[in-house]
Amino acid sequence: MPDTLTVTDNRTGKQYEIPIKDGVINATALRQIKTGADDIAGLATYDPAFMNTASCRSKITFIDGDQGILEYRGYPIEQLAEHSTYLETAYLIIFGELPSAAQLKEWTTQITFHTMLHENIKKLMEGFQYDAHPMGVFLSTVGAFSTFYPDAKKIFDEASRKKQIHRLIAKVPSVAAYAFRHSIGRPYIYPDNDLSFTGNFLNMLFRMTELKYKADPALERALDVLFILHADHEQNCSTSAMRGIGSSHVDPYSAMAGAAAALYGPLHGGANEAVLRMLNEIGSVQKIPDFIKRVKAGEGRLMGFGHRVYKSYDPRAKIIKKTADEVFEVTGKNPLLEIALELERIALQDEYFVTRKLYPNVDFYSGLIYQAMGFPVEMFPVLFAIPRTSGWIAQWEEMILDPEQKIARPKQVYIGAPRRDYVPLTSRS
Ligand code: ACO
Repeated sequence: MPDTLTVTDNRTGKQYEIPIKDGVINATALRQIKTGADDIAGLATYDPAFMNTASCRSKITFIDGDQGILEYRGYPIEQLAEHSTYLETAYLIIFGELPSAAQLKEWTTQITFHTMLHENIKKLMEGFQYDAHPMGVFLSTVGAFSTFYPDAKKIFDEASRKKQIHRLIAKVPSVAAYAFRHSIGRPYIYPDNDLSFTGNFLNMLFRMTELKYKADPALERALDVLFILHADHEQNCSTSAMRGIGSSHVDPYSAMAGAAAALYGPLHGGANEAVLRMLNEIGSVQKIPDFIKRVKAGEGRLMGFGHRVYKSYDPRAKIIKKTADEVFEVTGKNPLLEIALELERIALQDEYFVTRKLYPNVDFYSGLIYQAMGFPVEMFPVLFAIPRTSGWIAQWEEMILDPEQKIARPKQVYIGAPRRDYVPLTSRS
């Protein structure tokens, strides 16, 4: 039996054989089915929010939402979180294979030597209000990079793309740290090339007058694990934005500013900030039943719960829970943890959440860790954007090099007014 879908048009009695490949039919194959005598474009599909439409073929990240599986380039997230580092994982995501020792050394050297920001970037950032949200500062600064590196426009030049990749991976922690220091009125700290990727980031964030900053190794590793977990997640909202904007062949910095903007939203990367606000608002374990009641009545959402793809426990949430314990051993327990644990316990037994397959997602616990490490909630989406940079640029490069891709341009179903004549202002009621 050929792998096809037979579609019968009941109006004409005509049958169409639509090939099925990799579990999908090609939507353009439906165009041969006409909806009327004067229909030239042919039948289309209607799929708001892309609930059931693949927009690309990708070799980067595999997710099985029902079974709670996440793999980068075939490697299970659990193994990467245990054995890899963020920089090695970023290499894997971008170049497709784990690096050899020599490749990792070269990659680490390149990233280390691109961490500095142009002094004018510093001046640009100084122009923001003292209380500017660091994510707003972050996405504006990433967009501004395109003016500092006009060579990035050469998107079909492999060497140029590689240079932008080095710059982006290396500079995002510096931008994030500057945004943070700006918000608390402290001087910017220059990168320290002796330190690891996350060790240097913590240095740029928290160094005061000491000559050398040394982060607690447990916190440095915890941040590295969190970065591994957030590095890519296939075609989510911000990655789709990166691909969609990039499909116009704009430079990667401009595309990434748009991706970061998508991540800023409370339904995406802003969720862990929303979780903390929610936990603070609940305030005590005694108030949880009342809160759950309000959520079930549709008066709000249980933030950090639910996912478009995962209909079981988010595999990243499991690893994060373990990482949280390791962090709290150093920092002391986050007082909101008790509320979070109890919320999770109740929600996992409640018929409302069970029938809708709502489980904790990656953001339910990450905010508690970040807060315990000393980050204000405004920094949470920025902490997400740093590692997601590797996913965004890997997906962008894959899109650029994919001969099947074109400028992204969804169809619409027009439901507005039919053609009518312009009414002069004096004749309008
Ligand atoms: N709390 C309460 N009810 C919820 C929640 C929630 N967190 N999430 C979904 N539901 C309910 C919806 O009300 C809906 O119920 P209904 O069928 O009775 O109308 C049902 O579950 C399905 O929800 P949808 O909104 O259709 O699911 P969708 O896949 O569109 O949304 C999303 C996914 C946006 C993540 C959603 O679950 C949500 O808003 N969660 C809270 C925000 C959050 O944690 N976002 C982080 C996602 S992970 C990330 O971006 C890194």
